[in-house]
Amino acid sequence: MGAVFELPRSATIEDPMRLAVMISGGGSGLAALLEYQREESRCHRTVLVLADRIDAGGLEHGRGEGVRSIGIPLPKGLAKTEKRLAHERLLHDELISCNVELVVLSGYMRILTPWFVGRWKGRLINIHPSLLPDFPGAHAHRDVLASGVNVTGCTVHLVDEGVDSGPILAQTRVQVLEDDNESSLQERVKHVEHVLYPETIDLLCSGTMTP
Ligand code: GRF
Repeated sequence: MGAVFELPRSATIEDPMRLAVMISGGGSGLAALLEYQREESRCHRTVLVLADRIDAGGLEHGRGEGVRSIGIPLPKGLAKTEKRLAHERLLHDELISCNVELVVLSGYMRILTPWFVGRWKGRLINIHPSLLPDFPGAHAHRDVLASGVNVTGCTVHLVDEGVDSGPILAQTRVQVLEDDNESSLQERVKHVEHVLYPETIDLLCSGTMTP
């Protein structure tokens, strides 16, 4: 897979990997990760929560744990590309100033530019609610139901410059039920995401799983 995807080090309970979690909404995945880190000593801890909206509900999960949690909206008054880059520079500055080592996208709904990905490649992971490479993009559950497949799931992957296209680290399968709708399917998939993501982060940070 190549050196570009290497994490900077193997972490330990005594010297845990410093994580930032990036969200856009309610942050149930963030809440599950924080709970996982609270219930036992782990080889990673969340030191920063970033959202692309100041009103992202999930920021409260971070604040409740005493983690620096800030919403950084897109700056106003710039052309589209400049706006995205200016926004990502603000995010990047926060990550650097908090000495973040691994960036965990958890329901972060913006596509990151090659500029940002280039700076964090190998230290940037995402969870997606389908069995990638099938059903990438923002409407995975809708697309799964429309296709008629009877198994879906979730995927943890390294982020590259494409959309949900980076190397796959772990997957869990979930049965699609006959009477499923988007919200029932989303709920069941989230349930397994909340187990798979923390466990995969454990393996990555401890060096047990190498990208
Ligand atoms: C999750 O299903 C995740 O896979 C997807 O966005 C959703 C985020 O949910 N990328 P939440 O904000 O963690 O509740």
